[in-house]
Amino acid sequence: MNLAALIAASLVVPGQGAQTTRASMRVIVEAQGTVALQPGGQCSSAFGFAHCKVDLAPGVNLMTLVRGGAPEPLTLLRQVTTSQQVPGVDQAGFGVASVHRPEVEQVCAKCHPMDEAKGRAPGDSMLGTECTRCHADVSFRPRQHGPVAQGACLMCHDAASTPQRYAVRWPIQETCFRCHQDIQGQMLRKAYRHGPAAAGRCTTCHDPHGSDNEFWLKKPVFDLCTNCHTEKADGRHVLVGFVYGDTHPLRGRDHPLKPAPFYCSSCHNPHAAQSRFLWQFDATEREQLCETCHRK
Ligand code: HEC
Ligand code: HEC
Ligand code: HEC
Ligand code: HEC
Ligand code: HEC
Ligand code: HEC
Ligand code: HEC
Ligand code: HEC
Repeated sequence: MNLAALIAASLVVPGQGAQTTRASMRVIVEAQGTVALQPGGQCSSAFGFAHCKVDLAPGVNLMTLVRGGAPEPLTLLRQVTTSQQVPGVDQAGFGVASVHRPEVEQVCAKCHPMDEAKGRAPGDSMLGTECTRCHADVSFRPRQHGPVAQGACLMCHDAASTPQRYAVRWPIQETCFRCHQDIQGQMLRKAYRHGPAAAGRCTTCHDPHGSDNEFWLKKPVFDLCTNCHTEKADGRHVLVGFVYGDTHPLRGRDHPLKPAPFYCSSCHNPHAAQSRFLWQFDATEREQLCETCHRK
């Protein structure tokens, strides 16, 4: 067996023990015949290579990869983005055992064009390339964030990053602030900042490629907020006194001031505000907040 064949035979992308913050991962191996990844992997084989995709539960996922009848253990680790920086995972949540390293891309390049970013400017469209075909799950969502709809992947992903290509160009919040200077201004000017936004973790709440929710949120607002503020999930909040009952509606109504639904962020600014309770409308007093919607 020659060296190249030896390397190819042991190829497992991603590597053993790979870490990711994503909910699914592709596993690509060289193998003749059928390949299985258990539990839950979906594999298809073509020309001596198997492409599998598997959904990951948070934490350690112990898998078994079967090729040519021989079972091998494969451990994949899914981390949670909101936690502290995890060793082995960079600031954008990408594991170090990435596909976009020269030694791996070289193998993919036998069948896939891997150099499509070459010679392109950041704003150029990647639509119609293998880049967006391999990444159809982020490139063609029904509702897309502006620059993604334009195919401008390289606006945020750096084709020249090392050791892996396509790292996010700047720390995430800086990447967002390149275009959303209004939010940057608010974060700088206002007296109080919301924990996760102040930590620069914009993608804890927003999906950078788009989603079915407003503002490209990862979940509908109520679910997003109560994911961390679990005690608010019972809907008992903002006590308004015995005359009116003991709680304020928190969703499922219309916003009284604009054509939008009413939810947590109708009263709270998710980024920054002038009060410690992060009230909208720059309110610093409770009454000021109430009266903005409930005019006398
Ligand atoms: C021997 C040829 C071959 C090699 C080598 C190969 N692929 Fe593929 N790949 C294919 C074929 C064939 C398809 C199916 C194309 C289609 O359906 O349009 C495919 C499809 C894909 C897809 C899209 C389908 C999916 O699973 O979502 C991805 C992503 C992909 N390959 C990644 C890779 C990566 C990463 C490597 C290198 C580690 C690689 N491939 C190496 C032949 C290959
Ligand atoms: C042959 C298919 C293929 C092509 C072409 C391809 N990628 Fe990937 N890319 C992958 C696979 C597989 C992964 C691993 C993530 C996964 O499991 O889905 C990946 C990972 C990534 C990641 C996550 C970071 C990382 O390194 O894990 C980014 C960002 C990315 N690709 C951007 C791009 C961009 C931008 C292009 C085009 C200029 C491109 N890719 C071309 C298959 C491909
Ligand atoms: C507005 C900036 C932006 C644009 C434009 C963009 N991305 Fe991303 N992308 C990100 C950020 C930020 C992350 C890291 C997400 C995280 O850490 O939560 C990411 C993550 C990824 C990943 C890792 C998988 C995942 O779902 O997290 C892939 C693959 C990817 N991008 C591919 C692409 C492709 C292909 C395009 C073009 C069609 C593109 N991106 C356009 C900002 C962008
Ligand atoms: C290259 C410029 C660019 C970058 C970088 C960028 N955005 Fe955007 N963003 C836009 C444009 C243009 C729009 C308006 C079109 C649209 O709604 O998608 C937009 C819209 C949005 C919206 C919806 C605004 C609304 O009023 O509906 C959100 C939320 C958003 N971006 C968040 C982010 C986050 C989070 C990041 C960083 C991961 C980011 N953006 C990075 C250009 C950018
Ligand atoms: C805790 C969750 C959370 C975090 C973290 C977060 N956002 Fe938001 N963001 C939201 C919600 C919720 C909305 C919708 C606000 C509303 O209902 O008006 C929003 C709205 C937006 C909008 C569109 C509306 C506007 O005010 O212009 C942009 C752009 C945006 N966010 C960018 C960012 C950027 C950039 C970061 C990182 C610094 C960030 N967000 C961090 C939850 C979050
Ligand atoms: C990723 C977890 C996370 C998410 C999601 C999140 N928050 Fe927070 N929130 C925090 C943390 C951490 C703090 C800071 C806690 C502290 O300092 O007491 C905080 C603080 C707050 C505060 C100020 C609390 C105080 O006692 O001063 C309000 C109000 C708030 N969040 C509302 C929201 C709303 C509304 C949403 C949804 C748009 C949301 N949060 C989503 C983690 C989160
Ligand atoms: C009608 C306006 C309004 C809505 C809607 C609203 N809040 Fe509040 N929130 C307030 C006010 C006012 C306070 C100040 C404390 C108080 O009066 O109860 C507050 C305080 C908070 C605090 C900090 C103090 C505490 O009680 O822990 C958090 C966290 C919070 N809200 C989260 C949420 C979440 C999550 C939602 C959606 C499920 C939400 N809020 C919906 C008005 C609102
Ligand atoms: C962002 C707008 C907004 C703010 C700010 C707001 N409310 Fe409301 N309020 C609503 C909406 C929407 C309803 C539901 C009205 C309906 O169903 O017709 C409501 C209903 C009420 C009700 C009737 C309760 C019920 O069960 O129907 C009371 C009382 C009330 N609010 C008091 C307050 C108080 C006190 C504050 C300040 C702490 C406040 N509101 C802040 C939008 C707001």
